[in-house]
Amino acid sequence: MKRDVIIACDFAGREETLRFLDQFENEKPFVKIGMELFYGEGPQIVREIKARGHEVFLDLKLHDIPNTVKKAMRNLAALGADMVNLHAAGGSAMMRAALEGLEAGAKGARPRLIAVTQLTSTSEQMMQEELLIPRPMEEVVARYAQNAQNSGLDGVVCSPLEAKAVKEACSQAFLTVTPGVRFADDDVGDQKRVTTPARARALGSDYIVVGRSITAAADPVTAYRRAVKDFVEGEEA
Ligand code: C5P
Repeated sequence: MKRDVIIACDFAGREETLRFLDQFENEKPFVKIGMELFYGEGPQIVREIKARGHEVFLDLKLHDIPNTVKKAMRNLAALGADMVNLHAAGGSAMMRAALEGLEAGAKGARPRLIAVTQLTSTSEQMMQEELLIPRPMEEVVARYAQNAQNSGLDGVVCSPLEAKAVKEACSQAFLTVTPGVRFADDDVGDQKRVTTPARARALGSDYIVVGRSITAAADPVTAYRRAVKDFVEGEEA
């Protein structure tokens, strides 16, 4: 298994993003591009960051009818993204269609396809009372992960705290991509359930997605190296 740290590049625009990435010089961190940057700058931002030698996780969380998702995924694969995602709530037919689209659009290996189970902003109470899903959160996350696996997907986005339950419900090889990571001495910000890179490693995450703990650090390159050391190499810096 190849653990890695993905930097959430939640910047408003291209200039700011490229200025941030310039600091890394020859290191080429795995980068997450979200809706804000993609909708603001368009597909070219993906090609540009890929051309600079980064792996790219395109976090657009697709959720629509199967045919639409299939065609959208074909276009995302053609951009050269390494990892893309969708909502497992769209159902198995949509997830299978997404895979077909990725296979049709990919120039080489298809991007890894990851499902969002339940957003970490969704509380159990909201899920039960507003969405009328009358089950415990962990059961819903595990079942959505199984649906994703049975549809041929590569993994899920989940809290590091749910990584173990997902691995048990699916398999050790089924990927867990986990946001909500902070260094022990950081501000938690708006994240509710946070863990450190070292703890995420112990809990079995395959990829941690780290935003502000790196992007807002006084020295982002040092913060990135610290996350890699703790999470990938397994030593406390
Ligand atoms: O700055 P921070 O480390 O909290 O950033 C986490 C990143 O992961 C953000 O881009 C956020 O949108 C994303 N994310 C999340 N929780 C999810 C899915 C994605 O925090 N369930």
